[in-house]
Amino acid sequence: MGESIFDRSINKRNTLIKNRNILQTTYIPDQLPHRENEINNIVEIITPSLNKDKPSNILITGKTGTGKTAVLNYIGKELLKADPKEENCSYIYVNCEIVDNPYGILYNISNQVIKDQNSKIPFTGWSLDRVYETIAFHLDREDKVFIIVLDEIDRILHKNGDDIFYFLTTINEILKKSKVSIIGITNNTKFTEFLTPKIKSRLGEEKVVFPPYNPEQLQDILRRRAEMAFEPGILDEGVIPHCAAISAQVSGDARKALDLLRVAADIAERNGDNVITDAHVISARNKIELDAVIEVIKTLPSQSKIVLMSIIKNHEDKTKTVITGDVYAVYREICTILSCVVLKEKRVADLISELDMLGIIHARVKSFGRNGRTREIELNINKDIIEFVIKDELFEPMLNHKSSKQMTLM
Ligand SMILES: Nc1ncnc2c1ncn2[C@@H]1O[C@H](COP(=O)(O)OP(=O)(O)O)[C@@H](O)[C@H]1O
Ligand SMILES: [Mg+2]
Repeated sequence: MGESIFDRSINKRNTLIKNRNILQTTYIPDQLPHRENEINNIVEIITPSLNKDKPSNILITGKTGTGKTAVLNYIGKELLKADPKEENCSYIYVNCEIVDNPYGILYNISNQVIKDQNSKIPFTGWSLDRVYETIAFHLDREDKVFIIVLDEIDRILHKNGDDIFYFLTTINEILKKSKVSIIGITNNTKFTEFLTPKIKSRLGEEKVVFPPYNPEQLQDILRRRAEMAFEPGILDEGVIPHCAAISAQVSGDARKALDLLRVAADIAERNGDNVITDAHVISARNKIELDAVIEVIKTLPSQSKIVLMSIIKNHEDKTKTVITGDVYAVYREICTILSCVVLKEKRVADLISELDMLGIIHARVKSFGRNGRTREIELNINKDIIEFVIKDELFEPMLNHKSSKQMTLM
């Protein structure tokens, strides 16, 4: 076999990580340490389903990365072990982050309820009422409890209101044989404030809160994963405490901790290093932060990108204090080059505030000068990210623009 440009890269990979899959956040471990209370709690609430009795609906809240999805998946598997033929209860899981409209969610539920290919609901086209009726009909052809888990329910509410919750929590009134229990999961602790009181009390018959993990718990979770993922002796002593400390500081988020460990391992591997050290964790943290900011910038609307670009252009003169008026002047010039609509100054000021809230810039109210109140604007992103903004294809026309050299600030 001849040499390939991939050889070097292949040799570098898979030297440290024995099983990459285990470090992915989609991997669900067999054991979920430090969630025993939450698991027992939920198990107790839903146990009646094994006798075909309807359990209370449950509302589960907790910040991201506190193990909600993992626990509910685990419970689903265990329930199936207790009732392998699904004679008494069926467990239906829907992630509302992926399907976030009522039709999509009901379609997803119906697909898990209706086994007969010829009776399936079409992917689109039916009225919601018809979908509701069909699902109710098929649920009631059996005689058992359906536990429907709706993960990330706040997504639906945000976009579509609470009709679907109304349907799902009142469906028992039309069912004669089967029964439905709802388990709603949300990262948003304020979620219930947005529900109508009736639905709020129905959905939250029982409430289970998942607290953030503390640093020791995160270390424990990481250690168990690391044992499966790495050969012995690959991790420096300080790596796991460091990953745990960083994640605990912000949010007690196990996902973040696992991300840090995985990215640190990737960086070490790519460098051809033999052990994973603290330095790799620091690089991993920087890389993750950078990627997150870039993700935010990518999804900004064009007008916001132009405002950001105007701020960047103003800052090319390092000695200058940049105020709102300067930004607006450059903003107008850029809009002209790009043939974009020029927004009013007030609207641009709003976009500046939004960038400030996203943490991309700092805008401080400064003085009450001749023009009234103004804001002093600083950039809060590093060179690499500035480079990323400038290279956006939106700004391509600026590269060839002849008069750009004559512009006041360009
Ligand atoms: N107690 C735990 N033990 C092991 N891994 C956990 C534990 N809690 C969370 N994880 C892992 O952390 C990641 C995030 O958990 P997840 O259940 O998705 O959080 P949430 O749904 O609350 O945002 C997943 O990879 C999950 O497997
Ligand atoms: Mg989740």
